[in-house]
Amino acid sequence: MVSSEASLHYIRQNDMEASKKKKKKTLKVIDNQTGQELTLELHNNTIRAVDLAKLGVTVYDPGFLNTASCISRITYIDGDKGILRYRGYPIEELAEKSTFMEVSFLLLYGELPTSRELEHFTHRVLRHTFLKQSLVDIIKATPKESHPMGLLVSMLAAEGTLYPDANPAISGGDVYNSPRVREKQILRLLGTMPTLAAFVYRHKMGRPFNYPAYGGSRSYTENFMYMLDSMEDPSYRPNATLVKALDTLFVLHADHELNCSTAAVRHLTSSDVDVFTAFSGAAGALYGPLHGGANEAVLRMLERIGSVEKVPAFIEAVKNRKARLMGFGHRVYKNYDPRARIVRKLAYQVFEICGKDPLIEIATTLEEHALKDNYFIERKLYPNVDFYSGLIYKAMGFPTDFFTILFAIGRTPGWLAHWLEYLDDPDKKIARPKQNYLGSDQRSYIPLTQRNSSVKYSTEYVSPAEKRRVNGFAVAKM
Ligand code: CMC
Repeated sequence: MVSSEASLHYIRQNDMEASKKKKKKTLKVIDNQTGQELTLELHNNTIRAVDLAKLGVTVYDPGFLNTASCISRITYIDGDKGILRYRGYPIEELAEKSTFMEVSFLLLYGELPTSRELEHFTHRVLRHTFLKQSLVDIIKATPKESHPMGLLVSMLAAEGTLYPDANPAISGGDVYNSPRVREKQILRLLGTMPTLAAFVYRHKMGRPFNYPAYGGSRSYTENFMYMLDSMEDPSYRPNATLVKALDTLFVLHADHELNCSTAAVRHLTSSDVDVFTAFSGAAGALYGPLHGGANEAVLRMLERIGSVEKVPAFIEAVKNRKARLMGFGHRVYKNYDPRARIVRKLAYQVFEICGKDPLIEIATTLEEHALKDNYFIERKLYPNVDFYSGLIYKAMGFPTDFFTILFAIGRTPGWLAHWLEYLDDPDKKIARPKQNYLGSDQRSYIPLTQRNSSVKYSTEYVSPAEKRRVNGFAVAKM
């Protein structure tokens, strides 16, 4: 096995002796340069990357294509088969039979709640929906055209400053050891997320805010829609089918294991920062068009395509890498995203009440063309959850830039469940990836007067407005 090539041979083997006793699986790695051998233990088909360090080897994995950064027991995905389960329960059953509050409880505590637990939990969450006045004042002070996700990022960070007793930076790194403190943060985040979103919406619409009505019999999602739509009428009840549709969308978005924003929650929490700031970072990750912002991007794409006749040309542009088919493709799913199937059905239920959005024809035609085309077949690109969710939100009359904040409400219990799991993880360590340094070796300092510029940079562009300004002058200096 020894050769002059600087390469490693991986040999998957069952350690026969060990497997007889303990069914232990191992992987043998041989450094072809030195001949050094290393036997690595495999747990659930996973090796510990630090074990490779014994050979002086590092794993290079941009985008984490094949790196597990935690052990988790929350959500299972089989991307090839299109399977998604929360705590073992198939998403299809949860979407049909459960409410968002039940699913939140399940994700957080590992089991579906009893009726009593559900009632108690929902009641507690709804009792934490009020926003402190300073947060309301911040929303009022922002321009109406601000993007809701930009506001969410800021509001979550601002909200974190209001609870110094639950902030490790102020009250000590062990503050979250207290179950009472953890619980309070869970209730605050689940409770205030829809209020933040509803107030941002009402601010955008130039309407007075509806404070949450937690005293009555309204469900979580009904209360959210009440805050969005009541015209100062405390008896207002939103349409039950639309409440169910939105609640189901929240269920479908509730968790998706280590997606970019959930990974961000864990990454930020690893520094012991408070949970609101970790959520602010996660909201930032969700905002991106390749992640939660895809629902908004799909809508803008469909509007740009404009008509069914233009679909073939758009597909050609995607294949020629001049455009990206938003709402298609997934890092994990190499099959139809099971959530997309449910969202597609849901869309037609919403259209019954709010009317069919004409863009649905473009979307279904795009899907038909893509699923028949070799470019998409070879790359296993299927519609993901965001392909149809934007159409539902549009049909329900939400502004396009409001879509991703709806996703954020749904993802809140998932972020919280991962936060909880990570706090108790015996492997919790500050996240600090390694780099593969390929920059300059040490060099001698060059004095300013002896330097020759070889750097290309774009600061030479001066805008007409800047030229106008710099051609003015200050009277005081004359
Ligand atoms: N349109 C056209 N080509 C695509 C697309 C797409 N939507 N997605 C992937 N590809 C191609 C990509 O160009 C690459 O081709 P090649 O190997 O020839 O260079 C190949 O498929 C593999 O793609 P990738 O970019 O290496 O895959 P990834 O796992 O890094 O990216 C993704 C996953 C979701 C970012 C990507 O599929 C994408 O950009 N999709 C559109 C945005 C989107 O819908 N995002 C929502 C994801 S689901 C909800 C969520 O996570 O929030």
